[in-house]
Amino acid sequence: MRTRYITILSALAVFLMFGCKESIRYGGKKMSIKKEAFGKTADDKNVDLYTLTNANGLKAEIMTYGGIVTSLQVPDRDSNLADIVLGYDTLNEYIKASPYFGAIVGRYGNRIAKGRFTLNGVEYTLATNNGENHLHGGIKGFDKVVWNAEPMQDDNSVSLKLTYRSRDGEEGYPGNLSCTITYTLTNNNELKISYEAETDKTTVINLTHHSYFNLAGHDSGDILGHELMLNADHFTPVDEGLIPTGEIKPVKDTPMDFTKPMPIGSRIAEVKGGYDHNYVLNKPDDSLTLAASVYEPKTGRVMEIFTTEPGIQFYSGNFLDGSNKGKGAPVPASPVQAPQVQAVYNKHNGFCLETQHFPDSPNKPNFPSVVLKPGEKYTHLTVHKFSVR
Ligand code: GLA
Repeated sequence: MRTRYITILSALAVFLMFGCKESIRYGGKKMSIKKEAFGKTADDKNVDLYTLTNANGLKAEIMTYGGIVTSLQVPDRDSNLADIVLGYDTLNEYIKASPYFGAIVGRYGNRIAKGRFTLNGVEYTLATNNGENHLHGGIKGFDKVVWNAEPMQDDNSVSLKLTYRSRDGEEGYPGNLSCTITYTLTNNNELKISYEAETDKTTVINLTHHSYFNLAGHDSGDILGHELMLNADHFTPVDEGLIPTGEIKPVKDTPMDFTKPMPIGSRIAEVKGGYDHNYVLNKPDDSLTLAASVYEPKTGRVMEIFTTEPGIQFYSGNFLDGSNKGKGAPVPASPVQAPQVQAVYNKHNGFCLETQHFPDSPNKPNFPSVVLKPGEKYTHLTVHKFSVR
């Protein structure tokens, strides 16, 4: 009886795994996009989870709530896959409390001082959600809305196109803003994130992506041994509230210097609170250039980040404090699932590299402009390239 029960459940599991999967073959290579229901929000919106798999077996799971990358499986130097992004198993955990794990951040990534700025002589007041400041788009930012999704494919990649229309006045921002974000997993082992937006009133915009990476695996402790290179000779110093002072300072001869690869932990004790700074990338224009490279010595995994943006926020997971119990929550007694060990994310157990315009730019006339006018198109491309050494 019990064996029969297990057989039926296994058959059901196999059907659920492959029943709604679309496989695409091009030149002998096999990629796929799978869609499954992932739950509902409190206001009854359906949330779907898409699994993109490239021809080499790399896998990205992305849900329509917040455009969140819930899992990213990449190989180590022995070809073993591991999930290298922090996160949860279920939609409810993301809704309950998430420090922006894997999310699309907008309309403005990072902080705007006191939630205020002036555009064309009009002062705008935004939601404040980080002490007296506005952080990552406000109380209900782009990380907490449900995006429309459309899977796409071409000869060398699988993609998920996400769209969202942020209405005039949302979180205090002017203008209806139509956003399109496309995640593309290529057969060159790249995860590309392409952002586009248009407005019907002059506004400010700074979209980014907030995955917490641990290249040894999301549940493998601190990231202090990862070797980081940042292609930046300068950074923007901040005050106590993490608002840029407006200066652009050289990193040379300071613990901020990652122009040559250095373990993240090598000088972190000299940086009050840990790294949470915007680096000014060495680049003459908005072409796609190398911003960062990270190497994890135990597994050999390498992640390079290329971007069209002028800055990158390096955040060393300083606010993670173990209260975020992550993936691997025990599943109620199940005959087909072995007991799991739940990940606990402590301080410095993940790092973020958020490609962006500089924090508080709306109030800093010397920083590159974040103003978007009607008739213009906001574009931003970031490529995460995975390899081994
Ligand atoms: C960004 C900020 C940090 C913190 C995290 C989220 O990286 O710069 O200060 O707010 O997001 O916890």
